[in-house]
Amino acid sequence: MILSADPLHWTMAALTGAAWSGLTVRTLIRARRAGQVAATGPGGLLIGYASQSGSSEALARAAAAASPGARLLSLDQIGVADLAGTAQAQFYISTTGDGDAPDNATMFLARVMAGCPELGGLSYAILALGDRHYPRFCGFAHRLDHWLRACGATPRFPLTEVDRDQPTALATWRARMGETTNTGAPVSAAAPGRWRLAARHHLNPGSPGGPLWHLVLEPEGPLPAWRAGDIAEITIPSPEGPVRRDYSLASLPASGRAELILREVISEDGRPGTGSHWLCRQLGEGGAIDLSIRANPGFHAGDDAMPMLLIGNGSGLAGLLAHLRHRAALKASGPVWLIHGERSPDHDAVFAEELSGYLASGGLARLDRSFSRGGGGPRYVQQILRDSAAAVRAHVAAGGGIWICGRREGMATDVQQALEEVLGKDETARLMTERRLRRDIY
Ligand SMILES: Cc1cc2nc3c(=O)[nH]c(=O)nc-3n(C[C@H](O)[C@H](O)[C@H](O)COP(=O)(O)OP(=O)(O)OC[C@H]3O[C@@H](n4cnc5c(N)ncnc54)[C@H](O)[C@@H]3O)c2cc1C
Ligand SMILES: Cc1cc2nc3c(=O)[nH]c(=O)nc-3n(C[C@H](O)[C@H](O)[C@H](O)COP(=O)(O)O)c2cc1C
Repeated sequence: MILSADPLHWTMAALTGAAWSGLTVRTLIRARRAGQVAATGPGGLLIGYASQSGSSEALARAAAAASPGARLLSLDQIGVADLAGTAQAQFYISTTGDGDAPDNATMFLARVMAGCPELGGLSYAILALGDRHYPRFCGFAHRLDHWLRACGATPRFPLTEVDRDQPTALATWRARMGETTNTGAPVSAAAPGRWRLAARHHLNPGSPGGPLWHLVLEPEGPLPAWRAGDIAEITIPSPEGPVRRDYSLASLPASGRAELILREVISEDGRPGTGSHWLCRQLGEGGAIDLSIRANPGFHAGDDAMPMLLIGNGSGLAGLLAHLRHRAALKASGPVWLIHGERSPDHDAVFAEELSGYLASGGLARLDRSFSRGGGGPRYVQQILRDSAAAVRAHVAAGGGIWICGRREGMATDVQQALEEVLGKDETARLMTERRLRRDIY
């Protein structure tokens, strides 16, 4: 079993699932070769995940890679028949919002968990990812667990909770799974590497809002691969020990550097945010950063021909800019429409030059910027959606997709509501299930 040298990087400590019924991968493969176990597939091992920003999906993928023949599905891809026809299941389940299901489990919640099918033949285990700072710690995983029990399924052992600040709890999961040997299976994310702060610019001096920073990082070693939508996991030193903070990558590997857009957080009692303060103020230029890149398939783009509507505010520009830069570098691609919200037109029109360039070159078909402290009164991204309802509907009718990036409070929830008004609740839900509505929200 591979364990990360850095316990914070649970994706590196991911290799969890091959040892169902006490078999290691090698013994499983040996047994299968000898014809002692049925090949998996329908009726065999089902590995399900519900993940908002890729962590539990990475764990599930690593488990599936180590379990030949297992079926790997997001919860939204699982129906009652899959559960009823399966003897063994592993679930890798994150919680988002306020104890809520990740986006790729909303249909499962509405359609499958709304009933109580007979699942007496199912034995399962749940690995729950969460954060103890939230009142409903691992709330959605517990909800799934209760529902499975109520339907007659049998837990193989108690639900295993993993707090993002205590990822060593993964060892408990591995022990419960009976995994004792090194499977040699691939890890799910790039190894944590040492990077240097090459440059840092204050993007909005004089703004009535919190300081926004543009950070440019360069790797000490080889540049890892990543895609637009992926996340940088950064290890932050703190008096209580290292903590992990996630940041959306604004750049692509072709630039040779990782760019981040950070809001400096200051809490109501004036306490500086641990991670943002360290990255924006304490770390000197040239300073070292431990960073690993986590794939975030839930915020990837599929087809480059698909028209894109990118929506976000503040630091959310980071995840949107990566997509925009990817499209702008292509010879031909579907049109991109960006809606970005900020505070003041005089101080917060960040990345204006680059965005104007894309407008001029055709990389950007339409740009709407809203300012909550603008001259004509406050204007927010959700108002632009309502004011442009016909264009939003035409975008969706033309097969377009929608990507939302930024803070959940004060943006993503309001944008979701505006989309439901403009497109209808059912259509918005359908877009999410079809993965034409994707969110990187925090
Ligand atoms: C997938 C993802 C992508 C992100 N991308 C970006 C990005 O591109 N740019 C960006 O600026 N930020 C981004 N963030 C947010 C970032 O990870 C940090 O949360 C942010 O920088 C604040 O961290 P901090 O350590 O500075 O503040 P903290 O020290 O964590 O404190 C900030 C304040 O929030 C409170 N708080 C802290 N943690 C919690 C919690 N879990 N629940 C409730 N209250 C809490 C604290 O009490 C304090 O008042 C992203 C987050 C996620 C999950
Ligand atoms: C906006 C947001 C809301 C969250 N809400 C909860 C919560 O209510 N309960 C909890 O235990 N964890 C919560 N978390 C923590 C996540 O579950 C945790 O970071 C997890 O590792 C994310 O996994 P994923 O990358 O698979 O989505 C929240 C995280 C974010 C960014």
